Amino acid sequence: MPILEGRRGAVILSALSIISVFVFCEYIIYYPTILQCHWPRGHEEDGVPALRVLFLADTHLLGAIRGHWFDKLRREWQMERAFQTALWLLQPEIVFILGDIFDEGKWSSRQDWKHDVQRFLRMFRHPGDTELIVLVGNHDVGFHYEMNRYKLDRFERLFNYTSAKILSRKGVNFVLVNSVAMQGDGCSICQAVEDQLLRLSQDLNCSLQGLPSYAVREQCRGRRSLPPSAPILLQHYPLYRVSDASCSGKDVAPPEERHLLFKERYDVLSREASKKLLRWFHPRLILSGHTHSACEVLHEQKYPEISVPSFSWRNRNDPSFILGTISPRHFALHKCFLPEESTVIGVYCATSITLALVLAVHSHSLRAGKLKSP
Ligand SMILES: *[C@@H]1O[C@H](CO)[C@@H](O)[C@H](O)[C@H]1NC(C)=O
Ligand SMILES: *[C@@H]1O[C@H](CO)[C@@H](O)[C@H](O)[C@H]1NC(C)=O
Repeated sequence: MPILEGRRGAVILSALSIISVFVFCEYIIYYPTILQCHWPRGHEEDGVPALRVLFLADTHLLGAIRGHWFDKLRREWQMERAFQTALWLLQPEIVFILGDIFDEGKWSSRQDWKHDVQRFLRMFRHPGDTELIVLVGNHDVGFHYEMNRYKLDRFERLFNYTSAKILSRKGVNFVLVNSVAMQGDGCSICQAVEDQLLRLSQDLNCSLQGLPSYAVREQCRGRRSLPPSAPILLQHYPLYRVSDASCSGKDVAPPEERHLLFKERYDVLSREASKKLLRWFHPRLILSGHTHSACEVLHEQKYPEISVPSFSWRNRNDPSFILGTISPRHFALHKCFLPEESTVIGVYCATSITLALVLAVHSHSLRAGKLKSP
């Protein structure tokens, strides 16, 4: 005799299947998906194992004005689970978020900002031995014409961020740039950032001198000494490119957008600012966000740039992050996809249809059974 019989059995069975599908889609699914990712093989250099770095971009935590509560709840839950699962399974040493952390940092009031920050800190909580480094994007402080000292200050205080900085870990140099300030019009924030970048370029040049002459030693006296390694440039805007037409891969911009010409200082940095950054730093790799889609570009035939797609399901069906194994002379990257939104919705739809059919058949046979019994 079956344990669950009749109407009660049907209700319990449906409740159980709904709960288990829900738990699978909202919690468990991140584990098998992220387990398929792996750190690319790194090079141990001078006895130091390579640095494990996770890059993601454009989380766009919704704000009070444009965010619908359900959209907010769902996207933030997804990002929190994806991030926490990735941390637990992959244990990166550093995580970089390449700007547009918040959707409405550019105009949020003191109160709304505080609220957004609290949610961010909860979602992206991390153990003490993982560093979380955040870069500024146009949604955090506004496009150049909206950016002001107040908005930049509150961002910098929160993330201990400076608009131009070199971060060195295990012999690897990361140049962090506030790309919104690379407008090139001499605005006071822009000028300060460019001055600082120039100083950093000199610091780096001095550190890269193998056996400096007397004159160079004099010039470099008192400068900050950095590891002698070509840097990795990180910023929110991509360096100048005409469009995304030549990008390839499954998560590039959709075909109708790929051929649209990029606007300088809006979609990408200006040509001038891009040249300046390349000339100052000769980066061996550039990573940026902002476009929400993937692309690989080679600037001037020697400077590779990777566009990191958005980490939010609000911006794409197939968000991802990038794993980098980086040492002073080598790097290897691997893209890691998160579960696709369409898969999750598909599972929910299939479950609802199956359940509806089963219940219909079940109630039909119950009714038929009742008619037969005296
Ligand atoms: C903030 O950054 C500076 C360097 O830019 C570093 O020396 C300091 O320890 C950092 N503070 C915290 C609280 O992380
Ligand atoms: C540092 O060296 C590079 C390459 O030689 C050069 O293009 C750049 O202008 C130098 N930076 C500064 C601040 O002089």
